[in-house]
Amino acid sequence: MIGIHDLRVRFDSDKGLVDAVQGVNIDVKPGEFYTLLGPSGCGKTTTLRCLAGLETPTGGRITIGDTVVHDTKRGLTIPTHKRDIGMVFQSYAIWPHLTVFENVAFPLREARPKVPEAQIEARVGKALELVQLGGYESRPAPFLSGGQQQRLALARAIVREASVVLFDEPLSNLDAKLRAETRLELRHLVKRLGMTALYVTHDQTEALTMADRVAVMRDGRIVQEATPTEIYKRPNSRFVASFIGQCNFADGTVTAAARGAEPGLIDTAWGPVRFDAAADAATGAKVTIAVRPENVRLVANGTDGAADVPQGEVIDTVFLGESVECRVRLGNSDLVARIHPDQPVEEGKAIGVMIRPKDVAILST
Ligand SMILES: Nc1ncnc2c1ncn2[C@@H]1O[C@H](COP(=O)(O)OP(=O)(O)OP(=O)(O)O)[C@@H](O)[C@H]1O
Ligand SMILES: [Mg+2]
Repeated sequence: MIGIHDLRVRFDSDKGLVDAVQGVNIDVKPGEFYTLLGPSGCGKTTTLRCLAGLETPTGGRITIGDTVVHDTKRGLTIPTHKRDIGMVFQSYAIWPHLTVFENVAFPLREARPKVPEAQIEARVGKALELVQLGGYESRPAPFLSGGQQQRLALARAIVREASVVLFDEPLSNLDAKLRAETRLELRHLVKRLGMTALYVTHDQTEALTMADRVAVMRDGRIVQEATPTEIYKRPNSRFVASFIGQCNFADGTVTAAARGAEPGLIDTAWGPVRFDAAADAATGAKVTIAVRPENVRLVANGTDGAADVPQGEVIDTVFLGESVECRVRLGNSDLVARIHPDQPVEEGKAIGVMIRPKDVAILST
């Protein structure tokens, strides 16, 4: 539905040349909710603006549906208003001098050929119903709450009934609670309308909860693309692992490769760590492993399965409400374990540290 092929954008700014996008390839399927996730300045907004026709790429080709909207080689660019897209900006870009109705009607009034007035009324009404703003038509737009303004921006993006909708950090102006509620609402609405969405964010929780697929961007490039579960469980680099949640890292050497159900073994500063066949590594390879804190299990001596578990020492505990974060010394290095607050642990005491083979990710970079 959305095809981006070898997209490149170079800006000529007062600080010299900036390669904001350096060969991005994306293929979003019809009806898919696709998220671009990355730190500030990695090129997310620039990529989105190229799709919308608000930025001219230095290289590459973009298709929306069956239409080629940009092709640098052929010198072809279709203007924004002729692209089959709706867009929601970070700032909402709501017109403060217009009512709720007129804000949503705006894209239709701009459309050519002209949309008849009766149709405008019907479509605006339907869009406002969908975002649960029916009844607010005549209210001046600034007199809406933050969450309502966000929904108004959404209504304006869907009123054109375009097949593709682009979001640039649309929830970042909302407070934490409203943001959490709106995330799923927004995803459901997009899915119900059958739209294809490209959603830009630097918030890992947003990406994980909303997306069908996530692409992590760094310095103008996509460094990993996968489903939220895959990208969380099998990050391919230290950058991705630490950008998406917290992670423990250790360097090591593979002393035995995994074979079928037989786990492999890596020698690390924590001691020997076992890994399963999903993590592909050859004997003798120097690797970095990543283990999430919630996958580090602390088992007291004498409890089931505690035999054969390497012993560590609890150095520090931090109470976080829903969990306790424990820093544990294991072998010659430390790692962080996140445990249930009911589990008794004592600073200075020895404890078994269990890492299951399936929870060990092996990083390529
Ligand atoms: N018009 C411009 N002229 C010069 N440089 C630009 C321009 N627009 C963006 N850049 C630069 O391009 C890079 C990518 O910017 P972009 O806005 O795409 O980042 P982003 O990933 O959206 O970041 P954020 O999360 O902060 O919004 C940055 O280094 C930025 O300074
Ligand atoms: Mg941006």
